[in-house]
Amino acid sequence: MGHRESSSIPLSPAILSLVLVLLIPCTRSQLQSSQAWSLLRIQRLLNYPPALSSWNTTTDLCYAEPNPSVTVVCYEDSITQLHIAGNDSFLALPLPRSFSIDSLFTTLTRLPNLKVLSLTSLGLWGPLPPKIARLSYLEIVNLSSNFLYGAIPERISDLRNLQTLILDRNLFGGRIPDSLGALSLLAVLSARNNSLSGPLPDSLATLESLRVLALSSNSLSGQVPDLRGLANLQVLDLERNFLGPQFPQVARKVVTLVLRENRFTGGLPADAISSCYLLQQLDISSNRFVGPFPPSLLSLPSLRYLNVAGNRFTGKLFSNTSCNDELEFIDLSSNLLSGNLPTCLVSNSTHRVVKFSANCLAAQDRTQHPPSVCQNEALAVGILPRKQSKASASKALVVTGIVVGVVGGALLLGFLIFFALRRASLKRALKTPPRRLIEHASSGYPSKLLADARYISQAMKLGALGIPSYRSFSLEELVAATNNFETSSFMGEGSHGQMYRGRLNDGSLVAIRCLKLKKSHTSQNFSRHIELISKLRHRHLVSALGHCFEYYLDDSTISRLFLVFEYISNGTLRSNISEGVAEKKLTWTQRISAAIGVAKGIQFLHADIIPGLFANDLKITKVLLDQNLVAKISSYNLPVLAENMKAEVLTGGSSNGSKELNEWAKHADKIDIYDFGVILLEVVCGRPITSQSEVEIIRDQLQASVAADGAGRSIVDPVISRACCDESLKTVVEICLRCLSKEPSQRPSVEDVLWNLQFAAQVQDAWRGDSQSSEDSPLSPHPPSSPLTVN
Ligand SMILES: *[C@@H]1O[C@H](CO)[C@@H](O)[C@H](O)[C@H]1NC(C)=O
Ligand SMILES: *[C@@H]1O[C@H](CO)[C@@H](O)[C@H](O)[C@H]1NC(C)=O
Ligand SMILES: *[C@@H]1O[C@H](CO)[C@@H](O)[C@H](O)[C@H]1NC(C)=O
Ligand SMILES: *[C@@H]1O[C@H](CO)[C@@H](O)[C@H](O)[C@H]1NC(C)=O
Ligand SMILES: *[C@@H]1O[C@H](CO)[C@@H](O)[C@H](O)[C@H]1NC(C)=O
Ligand SMILES: *[C@@H]1O[C@H](CO)[C@@H](O)[C@H](O)[C@H]1NC(C)=O
Repeated sequence: MGHRESSSIPLSPAILSLVLVLLIPCTRSQLQSSQAWSLLRIQRLLNYPPALSSWNTTTDLCYAEPNPSVTVVCYEDSITQLHIAGNDSFLALPLPRSFSIDSLFTTLTRLPNLKVLSLTSLGLWGPLPPKIARLSYLEIVNLSSNFLYGAIPERISDLRNLQTLILDRNLFGGRIPDSLGALSLLAVLSARNNSLSGPLPDSLATLESLRVLALSSNSLSGQVPDLRGLANLQVLDLERNFLGPQFPQVARKVVTLVLRENRFTGGLPADAISSCYLLQQLDISSNRFVGPFPPSLLSLPSLRYLNVAGNRFTGKLFSNTSCNDELEFIDLSSNLLSGNLPTCLVSNSTHRVVKFSANCLAAQDRTQHPPSVCQNEALAVGILPRKQSKASASKALVVTGIVVGVVGGALLLGFLIFFALRRASLKRALKTPPRRLIEHASSGYPSKLLADARYISQAMKLGALGIPSYRSFSLEELVAATNNFETSSFMGEGSHGQMYRGRLNDGSLVAIRCLKLKKSHTSQNFSRHIELISKLRHRHLVSALGHCFEYYLDDSTISRLFLVFEYISNGTLRSNISEGVAEKKLTWTQRISAAIGVAKGIQFLHADIIPGLFANDLKITKVLLDQNLVAKISSYNLPVLAENMKAEVLTGGSSNGSKELNEWAKHADKIDIYDFGVILLEVVCGRPITSQSEVEIIRDQLQASVAADGAGRSIVDPVISRACCDESLKTVVEICLRCLSKEPSQRPSVEDVLWNLQFAAQVQDAWRGDSQSSEDSPLSPHPPSSPLTVN
């Protein structure tokens, strides 16, 4: 392809002018025309990104105005540096299907003198082609914030001049290639926020030039190799992996050491750390470290930031302990420390942040436990027998700091889910044109399932109204709220465990779902699920208020998970429509309003959280109404529930065959639309519909009735038929029948549904205004003035 282009160059007048332009400025070096063409081809392969809008056949590419998104540097007649940066606002989309990563790198190899290649936030997708190795002069490579997947190619080790390799925020998976050890000049290796797994290769320990090793937010596991040979290592960032159990061995010149959220356990090698005289930042929080907290840490000469929160450090602190004046941040929270906070930390607190909650310190702080708690747990940390009978230990809340063999199982489960999600979401992202803006890489970032939930749209933030903020509950609190899960507080049992009603200390009512876990999980394992759950808060969802773990004493895995939800008091949508006396039934306006609420809830589940929750098994009995008749979906397809039932999360039960999977994923949203149609059918007809055959019979009757009079009045609920206008009823009936189409592709989108329902509400409102007919419901002292404003 490229050859044909170059042979046709002399024929084009545009190219002639390019050649002229390139020839005229004799004082500057001239870019080889083949290289100029390669750049223009790259512009095309990248789908003409805005950053390159100034490139055309007449642009002097080597001497274009410097610009933060594009830099081309030439030396003599060759390009030596190429930087192109897309918009890094988390809105980058993958390039369209026609994009070929292979063609891109083939074209790049025509710039053989490249030393710096930086292609960031451009939506590149596909596996990184091993032919990158042909660019043998490369010194700096930055490909961050794209959608590159597959393994890091072994052949990258042929780039013997490589000094900096940055692959952050992509979808790279598999192991880190052992061959990297051959890159003797490598100083920076950064692959944060990918899906790399397996252990760190021992060959990393031979990279003597290495200054920065940043591999946070991957799924790496196992022991960190002995890095004491890396005399220049300054930054070791391994946050959010599954590494452990032993504290890594590093050379003394380390400046930043971040081990947060891993599986490290055992004691701290205080002597080794004390010799790190350059150490400025030490973050070992949220691991399972045990043993005495070494006070010498506080006086490390260069230390600025120290975070040991969320471990099981024991021991007594003394007021007279000295600390480094330069300390800016100290977090000792959630350990088992007793004694007194050192005065050097307290007295200078305006210069620094000091956190120490949830210990047993003698401080005027309500979060501190009585000293006995720390003593008992400190004992438990050390001497608990392993794997004693679970029955006798199941009530205990003590977490031991000991890592047990469940890690493997949990990891495996994690990977399986991760791959299923990844396949599904990659397919969704690549096979169909994206329906909405996918925040950066999130659709293909399943291991970051929950991390992504943080990028939830504004819609959700606006939707979360008047609910207390999410928190974790203690088991004691839930026991008190339910009178020790007494039968009178029992609300029912579903496929996902029992439901209890409870009253919290502050008087508020809650619904508590109790989930007995079938597989071994650690709380770290679950924190991602919990983060997702905590984001599921919307006006039209029964929102989660918090959770509580109950642990097995012997291995600190979770025995039960309690999810605390708002308690919705006004019954189900069914009980307000097809049960009870006619006077208590919802009016037409209220019904449309409730239906709009359900549709908005569905829209939120599908589009506003990432990845979306589909196939939520929606039922009219799972839609609850609150005291203001706001409809709330009470049961949705939480991955944690599905997982616990061993059901497939995103694959909808079809674990084999990517074709099926793809087919399923394509219509995943339409499953909920059908279920919504069934709800709407009951809303319109006003009688309980309890089986699939009934759905079909009533749908056919409605269809026939519509054919007769245009609005199907002969079959709709007489309560509403008397008080609704034709246009409104007709609109709702039509959309209902479309939702119930047998063919998923014929069902409307949720936006379409919403538009029609809002239209129906509007015409009904106008009609009601005209006809002066009042239809205030006895149920609702403050009837919504208009369903449009209510929602
Ligand atoms: C090429 O781009 C330059 C600005 O970089 C612009 O002035 C010029 O008009 C463009 N030429 C063509 C043919 O588009
Ligand atoms: C990136 O995109 C956002 C939203 O589209 C826009 O507001 C912002 O200015 C863009 N930034 C750059 C550097 O182009
Ligand atoms: C790599 O690219 C990212 C995104 O443009 C940028 O933030 C980062 O500073 C770059 N790193 C280096 C070392 O150039
Ligand atoms: C600090 O106080 C403890 C008792 O409160 C004492 O045993 C220890 O010697 C003191 N250390 C220093 C360095 O003064
Ligand atoms: C507080 O910190 C400053 C430096 O940040 C130091 O000069 C001063 O001596 C400290 N005061 C006390 C009482 O430790
Ligand atoms: C990686 O992801 C985490 C959580 O999603 C985020 O806080 C962090 O900033 C990301 N790091 C990089 C380098 O993108």
